[in-house]
Amino acid sequence: MTEHFFDFSSNRQKANDRTIISLFDEITRVDNFTTNAAGLFLDYSKQNISQSELSALINWAGSSQLFDKIAAQFSGDKINNTEQRAVLHTLLRAPNDIKKAVLPEGANEIIATEQQMEKIVNDVCSGKLTSSTQEKFTDVLAIGIGGSFYGIKVGLTALQPYHSTGLNVHFLANVDGGAVQEKLNKLSAKTTLVVVISKTFSTQETLLNALAVKHWMLAALPAHCIAQQWFAISTNIEQVTSFGIAREHVLPIWDWVGGRFSLWSAVGLPLAFAIGYENFVKLKQGAFEMDQHFKSAKFKDNMPVIMALLGMWNRNGLNYSSLAILPYEHALRALPGYLQQTDMESNGKSVSIDGKKLDWLTAPVVFGQEGTNGQHAFMQLMHQSVDVIPTDFIVSLKGSSKYSEHHKVLVANCFAQSEALMQGKTLQQVKDEMSTQGASDEEIKRLAVHKTMKGNTPSNTIVLESLNPHSLGALLALYEHKIFVQGVLWQLNSFDQWGVELGKQLGDQVLAVMAGQEGNNLSYSSQMLIKRFLNA
Ligand code: F6P
Repeated sequence: MTEHFFDFSSNRQKANDRTIISLFDEITRVDNFTTNAAGLFLDYSKQNISQSELSALINWAGSSQLFDKIAAQFSGDKINNTEQRAVLHTLLRAPNDIKKAVLPEGANEIIATEQQMEKIVNDVCSGKLTSSTQEKFTDVLAIGIGGSFYGIKVGLTALQPYHSTGLNVHFLANVDGGAVQEKLNKLSAKTTLVVVISKTFSTQETLLNALAVKHWMLAALPAHCIAQQWFAISTNIEQVTSFGIAREHVLPIWDWVGGRFSLWSAVGLPLAFAIGYENFVKLKQGAFEMDQHFKSAKFKDNMPVIMALLGMWNRNGLNYSSLAILPYEHALRALPGYLQQTDMESNGKSVSIDGKKLDWLTAPVVFGQEGTNGQHAFMQLMHQSVDVIPTDFIVSLKGSSKYSEHHKVLVANCFAQSEALMQGKTLQQVKDEMSTQGASDEEIKRLAVHKTMKGNTPSNTIVLESLNPHSLGALLALYEHKIFVQGVLWQLNSFDQWGVELGKQLGDQVLAVMAGQEGNNLSYSSQMLIKRFLNA
């Protein structure tokens, strides 16, 4: 049944008529619009929302089903109703007593899988587990896509300084022969361990890549290399073993772990190979602390809830259609891509959990890049186009390199951009500035309008003490929960992804036509393109 939805539209005009900076007249704003959780600090004072408006939103969330839905998620109810599945990735980062309480039947298997994962990582790193030629592994090649890729990618790039095991971890995700060739040229079959990550073990891209790597390895080594050097993480044991991977090298994943929330499971194996198992545990600990905060903090202090409500205020109240993720940290450059999937694949929907057409907008278009690179690319549009793009800035107080001056400049740019997006520059300010600089009247008339900035762009700033496994875990869990809250309040199911299916189906049809099959439903445009491809 459709629940009462917040009347966002009644606040729109008021918000459009004011400047964000005017909201700072309330002297307690900075104190009231900041919060801490699991070692992260959030400043949301640069949002275009007043204290009373935010309080009304929080009250609405309190009167909705959100509280019950949070409890339902953590206790393993089948909240993914279209697939009849629980959503329990949080259990993978919880202590064992919680695992046993929530899943008495399944806890032992989760714990045994963690132990298996730890042993594999330690044995490979120590050289106890060697390749089929009895050599120590030097490289790990992980193969997977979507949720079986992005989390690992963000972990591998963000935690580069923690790559301490001596293993070089590589990834193949896209179905592109160029990418396969580039990777394989760098690797030696004798010392490469392969991990195939596919929940279903039926994903076209992953299987094609796995097959290409298998042929490459078999060209150099005897057949038993696959059983010895390959591992898989999957629910589909039958397919994995018929591919040739040894049963004891298959680590399970469960239907209650969604692909895009699976980093915390054995899917994280390639990351653990790079940073060591202890650091992988710290990543999960950071996420667990955010889970505890999310479960227990009052909505008014609850970081994921606050971020979710602000996102809805911008989307449904102010009609802003995108969200920029701008980490001012080179190591977090993979975060925008990761959040693109978690956010848009979860909440990019227009039908309610009960199958009714929703009357409101849902997920924004998420994009971004690490600062300051983004400043020299799309941020021109953010400052001067008519589109307002709410932004999440993410920054660490302490840098991870010895170049402290670089870090200071990076942080300064981050703070300056949120200020510039909020303050903008009026025509009058530009004219005054130009005149002070000695510009002629003719020059001012010609140029001033080009130099004005709209301002009034809302932003959050998420501050980490430093980027490490713990803070990364907390950050990823923060966004997971934010997305969950928005899904609940938008009254949709965040945990299925039917939208991806049509492309897969039509992909099969295109391949069939390419193989000479007659009769299809493809448009003349696509048929013409296929002909061009076949005639090339
Ligand atoms: O992108 C669609 C999707 O179904 C994701 O949800 C999933 O993470 C990805 O494909 C890969 O699926 P699998 O792990 O089964 O290969």
